Amino acid sequence: MRLTPHDRLFVLTGAGISAESGLATFRGSGGLWNGYRVEEVATPEAWQADPLLVWRFYSMRRRDALAVVPNAAHMALAHIEQELGDRFYLCTQNVDDLHERASSCRIHHMHGSLFQSRCIRCNLPFADHSLYETAATLPKCKACGLPVRPHIVWFGEIPLDMDAIYSELDRATVLLVVGTSGSVYPAAGFVHIARQRGIRTIYIGPEEPLNAEAFDEVILGTATEALPPISTRIIPTGRP
Ligand code: OAD
Repeated sequence: MRLTPHDRLFVLTGAGISAESGLATFRGSGGLWNGYRVEEVATPEAWQADPLLVWRFYSMRRRDALAVVPNAAHMALAHIEQELGDRFYLCTQNVDDLHERASSCRIHHMHGSLFQSRCIRCNLPFADHSLYETAATLPKCKACGLPVRPHIVWFGEIPLDMDAIYSELDRATVLLVVGTSGSVYPAAGFVHIARQRGIRTIYIGPEEPLNAEAFDEVILGTATEALPPISTRIIPTGRP
């Protein structure tokens, strides 16, 4: 894959990019939490039924994310952003903050952020690194007293700022997708939109995603194997 500074790159990342930092993917081995599938704890219904269970799940994920560091693939994307400037846009399905810790700036968390919470009524996200693992510590809004929930997009909820995402996808000349199984929409449909626009589409991951047939190119390899060489091979403007 070759990039020039004239390209406008839209990157979509999924759990696979953080796998080599030590964070489990959702659908791989180890993707279960206490015997629950993510679909059983990441839903409004689970929150209604058992907010403590949900907060224990996200507290565990906060603890896990705090214990790891960005890997060479996060770094490579930050380097590409330095080269391309505002021709770069990173949309991640991940709720961890490893892209930010690798110094990515133009980043959008379409499924929310692990280290933010919000009141179920006031709805204003705020920074929150706390762990809530007992009924006595479940957080309440300081303003209205109602429960505070993770600032995460659960199954059945609408991802954040889809208009901005589609407008970036509309301007891109290359779509690069890294480490996502292509099983959760709308993100899994970005490649179909890109294809309709006739732009280049590339997937990176150790196995083919479910939507593999829609990509122009599938690079089979881990994110830390495949991304660093791309980031150091950006062709300067004016060279063929
Ligand atoms: P998945 O767990 O579904 O898929 C992870 C993908 O990463 C798989 O296709 C793996 O092959 C790939 N992978 C594993 N190791 C890798 C590595 N070292 N380098 C690159 N790729 C690797 O995770 P997502 O597709 O991100 O949503 O899941 C999408 C959404 O489903 C998540 O954002 C989450 C989840 O339920 C919500 O919570 C709303």
